Amino acid sequence: MRPRGNVQFDNSGRVVLVTGGAGGIGLAICQAFAASGATTYAVDVSQPEPGVELPAKLILGDVSQREDCQRVVAQVVEEAGALDVLVNNAAIQPPDSYRAIDQLSPAVWDKMVAINLSGYTYMAMAVAAVMRKQQSGVIVNMASAQGHRTAREVPAYGPIKAANLMQAKQWGVELAREGVRVVSVSPGAVGTPLLRASLAQQGGEAPLANRHPLGRIAEPPEIAAAVMWLASDGASFVTATDLEVDGGLGAFAAFADPFSVTTIPGQNDH
Ligand SMILES: NC(=O)c1ccc[n+]([C@@H]2O[C@H](COP(=O)([O-])OP(=O)(O)OC[C@H]3O[C@@H](n4cnc5c(N)ncnc54)[C@H](O)[C@@H]3O)[C@@H](O)[C@H]2O)c1
Repeated sequence: MRPRGNVQFDNSGRVVLVTGGAGGIGLAICQAFAASGATTYAVDVSQPEPGVELPAKLILGDVSQREDCQRVVAQVVEEAGALDVLVNNAAIQPPDSYRAIDQLSPAVWDKMVAINLSGYTYMAMAVAAVMRKQQSGVIVNMASAQGHRTAREVPAYGPIKAANLMQAKQWGVELAREGVRVVSVSPGAVGTPLLRASLAQQGGEAPLANRHPLGRIAEPPEIAAAVMWLASDGASFVTATDLEVDGGLGAFAAFADPFSVTTIPGQNDH
C-alpha cells in the first residue's frame, strides 16, 4: 500500500474544553487533544462508560444551564490560567425526535433547543469573554450534514444544526479582529452512541453507510482529526466557515443512482 501521509499536532501549553467530552465524538476529541499535549477538560452530564478512560479532567455540568456554563469556564480559567480552544459538541438527537413536525412533542423540541442551540450560545458567551481578553482562541461548533440538507422526520435536529453553522459564521465575524477564530464541522454518520440509538430510524447501518460515497460510517477519531486541524495554527486563515467531514455524502445527489452495497478495499482500515 502507498503511504497516505500523516499529520502530527503539538498542543503543548494549550488549554482545551470539550462539551459532551465523556462519550462519542467528544471523547475522541479529548483523546486527540490530550495525546498532543493539551491540558484537556470535558464538561458532560454523564461519566464515561465503564472501562473507558477519559484523558481529560471531567467537570460535571449541563450545557443547557447558563450557570453551569459560566461555572465550568470559570473553573477552567481559574485552574489552568487560560482557555485556548472550546469545542461545542454536546447535543442530543433522541429517537423520539424522529417525527413529522405535527407529531413532535413540544417537550422534546424545548429540550433539543436548550442543549443543542442554547448550550452552544451559553458556552460561547462565557468563553468569548475570556478569549477576547487573551486576544486569542478558537471555537469549534460541531454541526452536522443535517444542518446543510435534510431528511424526513428531523424537524428539530436539522434546523438547529443549521443554526449551529450560522452561530460559527456570526461569532467568527464578530471576533475576527480579536484574535479569535470560530468554525464549524459537519460530520456525516459517525459510529457513536447517538447514532446507534437511531439506526432503525435511519434505515439500518448498512444502507446508511452505503448512502455515503466512501461506503462506510466514520469513526469518531476521523472527526476529531478535522477539529485538531481547525483548532491549530495550520488553519490560521480559516474562520467563520464550515468543514464537511462526510465521506462525500453532501456531494451525492438524491437523484443519483445509488451505490450497490459493497465496501471498497482499503477504505475500511481506519
Ligand atoms: N454521531 C453522528 O452520526 C453525528 C453526525 C453529525 C453530527 N453529530 C454531532 O456530533 C456531536 C456529538 O455527537 P455524538 O454522536 O458523539 O453523541 P453522543 O450521544 O454519543 O455523545 C454526546 C455526549 O454529550 C453529552 N451530553 C448530552 N447532553 C448534555 C448536556 N446537556 N450537557 C453536557 N453534556 C451533554 C452526553 O452525555 C455524551 O457524552 C453532536 O453535536 C452531534 O449532533 C453526530
